[in-house]
Amino acid sequence: MKEREVRVFYKEYLNGNEMPDSDRVLAEEAVVAASGAYAPYSHFMVGAAILLDDGTVVRGANVENAAFPSGSCAEKTALSWSVSNYPARRPVAIAIAALSGGKLTHEPVPPCGNCRQMLVEEEQRHGKPIKVILAGKEKILVIDSAESLMPLRFTKSNLK
Ligand code: THU
Repeated sequence: MKEREVRVFYKEYLNGNEMPDSDRVLAEEAVVAASGAYAPYSHFMVGAAILLDDGTVVRGANVENAAFPSGSCAEKTALSWSVSNYPARRPVAIAIAALSGGKLTHEPVPPCGNCRQMLVEEEQRHGKPIKVILAGKEKILVIDSAESLMPLRFTKSNLK
């Protein structure tokens, strides 16, 4: 028997001004994206902004439904949009932010397991990491790749 350990490294910024401009701008895009959410059930408006390798920014928001599981997370909305409309482009970063009661949450909001799964496959498809920026009012976390948020994940190599 061996015991193994998985470690996740991330940067924590207490002030947006400490961040590289490109990350801060993408975090601001995620806040704008959140304002487009359709969230009449949870009232939790999530936004995601994906930066593509040609500089294009694709926004997505959560879209809820009376049949709850039919709804979509912001990250999935944005990723589906970028893959569908920019199939040749590679996402380099995704920023995520949420509005609760109309205000940016104090804590950063991490992507759910489903969305992590989607992001990792997109990373693997292009063979390059996608930086994940989680923007809260009091702190902003930056993780170098989605893969590090999903250790021991199911991938296409398991489908054998
Ligand atoms: N939500 C997202 O959009 N992204 C996440 O990563 C977590 C949750 C949405 C789904 C639902 O519309 C609302 O937030 C409350 O869970």
